[in-house]
Amino acid sequence: MAEVGSPTRDDIFTDNERWGDLNDWNRTAVALHERGGIHRIERDGFQPFWAVIDHRAVLDIEKQPELFTNGPEPVLNTIESREARGMDIKTLIHMDAPDHGKYRRLTNDWFKPAAIRRLDARLTELSQQAVATLESAGGELDFAVDIALPYPLQVILKILGLPEGDYERMMMLTQQLFGGEDPDLQREELTPEVVAEVLMDFYGYFTGLTAERREQPTDDLATLIANGRIDDAPMPDLETLGYYVIIATAGHDTTSSAMAGGMRALIENPEQLDKLRADPSLVNNAVEEMIRWTAPVRHFMRTATADTEVCGQRIAAGDWLYLSYKAANLDPKVFEDPLRFDIERPNADRNVSFGYGVHFCLGAQLARNELRNLFSHVIPRIETIELAAEPTTMKTTFVGGHKTLPIRYTLTPTDGER
Ligand code: HEM
Repeated sequence: MAEVGSPTRDDIFTDNERWGDLNDWNRTAVALHERGGIHRIERDGFQPFWAVIDHRAVLDIEKQPELFTNGPEPVLNTIESREARGMDIKTLIHMDAPDHGKYRRLTNDWFKPAAIRRLDARLTELSQQAVATLESAGGELDFAVDIALPYPLQVILKILGLPEGDYERMMMLTQQLFGGEDPDLQREELTPEVVAEVLMDFYGYFTGLTAERREQPTDDLATLIANGRIDDAPMPDLETLGYYVIIATAGHDTTSSAMAGGMRALIENPEQLDKLRADPSLVNNAVEEMIRWTAPVRHFMRTATADTEVCGQRIAAGDWLYLSYKAANLDPKVFEDPLRFDIERPNADRNVSFGYGVHFCLGAQLARNELRNLFSHVIPRIETIELAAEPTTMKTTFVGGHKTLPIRYTLTPTDGER
């Protein structure tokens, strides 16, 4: 039997099975904090790395993108999968200066708060649809599958300007790329060839989209990407593909995981749900706490370019560092009683779930708006709510959250029903 919450278990970073029990993962991370802010991880099949869990150290590393680069390998993969990878994709996350700034500038303004406000009407429509789904399901549904999964994907389709008919295809892309390690989400065993196949499929799809948007530009994000110029030349094909893929994938499973994980936290902490119901103005802080609590992007990697120190530990040039956003959000030095879900936590917004610095999440404001909009519509309608069965979580080491969240509920009557 696995040692539960034991500080000696530092396989929480490499073993995807450990993500199947999030409460145990969280307890283990808090126990690890007692042993220090940085841990050497050596595991069969993985290039050795340093797991950084200290909140301040994560921020310090992110503030120095020249000393700690995203390249050559920004995500934890096994040596085998790295070696066998057929096709390399180049997204913002894979880039460092000077390319990163050039590519980021292309879409940066599109995601500024004032700009994404134009999506508000669509968000409200989707939140109303979520309430309608709750009404028509008659008291039992799977909040992760029926509400949290479709919502952000519809937002992505809207910002890229894709038809709703492409929904299934986009769903497959995000699930294959992010949920790939989880056997339940795989079409077949996840080999590097399968990943390459998924990417090739999308390459064909997005190449068609690029041609269309070059011919007939509209005001959507796909048009901006298709016609993007870098150093006064059209963006190369692989980078154009990378741009579509990161927008399509980064904004989906991440946000839906925060939605489902946030709802579960409210169900398991009914006094917090009562507070939110009694005072809807708490929704903004509640969403920050949900984002701290869920940290759907579990990590990104950095590579040291020179000898340095992190948390007093000597780091050599070339060393690989794992930034654990999830464990940093549980740092007891910053978040008092970190295992308590508290929608009134005064510093919930100091969570590092969106990263920091030059790579800070491009979609952070959009994700927050989605969560605020959804919970503002759903919570006032919930009269009673409980788990209808044990929820399950994705066993993935990169991006993840709830696979299922079966709920049983009653709704307050609408004005017309009273
Ligand atoms: C709760 C939801 C989300 C979480 C937790 C999240 C988390 C993150 C994190 C941790 C990073 C890396 C930051 C760093 O290295 O410092 C990131 C980058 C990024 N995110 Fe998000 N994200 C979310 C939603 C979104 C959405 C809705 C979009 C867009 C539609 C998006 C687009 C991106 C992009 C394009 C990047 C790359 C930025 C760069 O490298 O310059 N994300 N996100």
